[in-house]
Amino acid sequence: MLANVSRGKLYGAPRGTQDILPQDQPYWTFVKEKAAEVCRRYGYQRIDTPIFEQTALFSRSVGEGTDIVDKQMYTFDDRGGDSMTLRPEGTAPVCRAYIEHGMHNLRQPVRLYYIAPIFRYERPQAGRYRQHWQFGAEAIGEAHPALDAEAIGLAWHFYASLGLRDLTLQLNSIGCRSCRSTYLEKLKDYYAAHARSLCPDCKARLSRNPLRLLDCKKPSCQEIVKVAPRITEHLCQECNRHFRAVKDYLEHMQIPFELNPYLVRGLDYYTRTVFEVQPRDIGGQSALGGGGRYDDLIEELGGKPTPAVGFGTGLERVILNLRKQGIEPPSPDSARVYVASVGEQARKEAMRLATALRQRGMSVTTSSGDISLKSQLKQANSLGATHTVIVGEDELRRGVVVVRAMAEGEQKEVPLDEAASQLSAEVQVGRGPA
Ligand code: HAM
Repeated sequence: MLANVSRGKLYGAPRGTQDILPQDQPYWTFVKEKAAEVCRRYGYQRIDTPIFEQTALFSRSVGEGTDIVDKQMYTFDDRGGDSMTLRPEGTAPVCRAYIEHGMHNLRQPVRLYYIAPIFRYERPQAGRYRQHWQFGAEAIGEAHPALDAEAIGLAWHFYASLGLRDLTLQLNSIGCRSCRSTYLEKLKDYYAAHARSLCPDCKARLSRNPLRLLDCKKPSCQEIVKVAPRITEHLCQECNRHFRAVKDYLEHMQIPFELNPYLVRGLDYYTRTVFEVQPRDIGGQSALGGGGRYDDLIEELGGKPTPAVGFGTGLERVILNLRKQGIEPPSPDSARVYVASVGEQARKEAMRLATALRQRGMSVTTSSGDISLKSQLKQANSLGATHTVIVGEDELRRGVVVVRAMAEGEQKEVPLDEAASQLSAEVQVGRGPA
């Protein structure tokens, strides 16, 4: 039994999840650091919420009738009998925290961001997982359209700061509670006349979630969508004014956008502005990120009426696109030292020296096991060491060590008690491993 486990035959990572291995970490560090940096520039502060929440938080906010709530949540009863759900998205938990911590008493808007694992029971495929990481940003407590443009700008500049190219920004408004309900009646009337030609999913959407009819990717339904009434032609005066202002700000910020009157989102809480960023080559099948305004959500969750806007982006999809576009993360550290030793006394000195070098900020590996000097030098090479320090028995007797600069192949003797200070003066100390 145990033998099987150690050969890795018995268990694998759960379907739709993945290990992030050391060789992938530089991408993750790169993306997370850029997210934190863009948030610093836009004045968004980090928040972390629990990985699970009460189930009702999500069914109320994301909405009954959405795929997420109906089919994708990891829900369980805890030992106290309360229904809990692994976070299937990040906005509702942040709103819950905003209410719970009385953040309406702070200067508004409150600008928050998170980088967190998200769980959805989906059919796994490239870029679609059962656990993914999301970077999200939320600006809560301000209805002004400038905040919509700010959230979109933050998303756009995040992708740009990574060097991603060929992205499109799709933009729409889905109106407010009042103009949307008039529009939905018109939409349902139109679809009722085509009910027989709809796919089974759309037949269900017609009664449960008619706005999502516009999002069906099946070719037969796409034909019907093409001539469906457009929400942007049914916006009330206020929603129209808001949408015009958002577009105007984006133009001033030189953020290019494409209007897409059929863009709707998979979560029910949105009002007015909705947007998605997509790689140009995938034809709208899988968004890199998306978001919008959600002016009713905080009230829906028991808070005071509080307008808000935000966005979220999946880090795996961002990294997939970085790789596709040949964008490499910066290499994690500049100085790697290998300390080789021959004999037990020398090993003790090597351990002491390694500690001193680490205290000076260097990344240091010592030899492991009883291997020959030749094997140790090979190991230093394969680890990509910039410098190797050789602590030999003869040298030790003379109170010196050998320092070899690997790239140049040059070596010199250095007094043992000066080795740490000389090396740290010589090598550029990096920011440490990713
Ligand atoms: P969402 O569109 O459901 O929005 O997800 C945001 C992003 O998360 C997607 O564009 C995609 O990059 C990534 N994503 C979603 N599901 C998966 C998956 N199964 N596998 C890999 N990546 C995935 C939200 O979740 C909203 N909370 C965004 C938001 C924030 N709106 C306002 N504020």
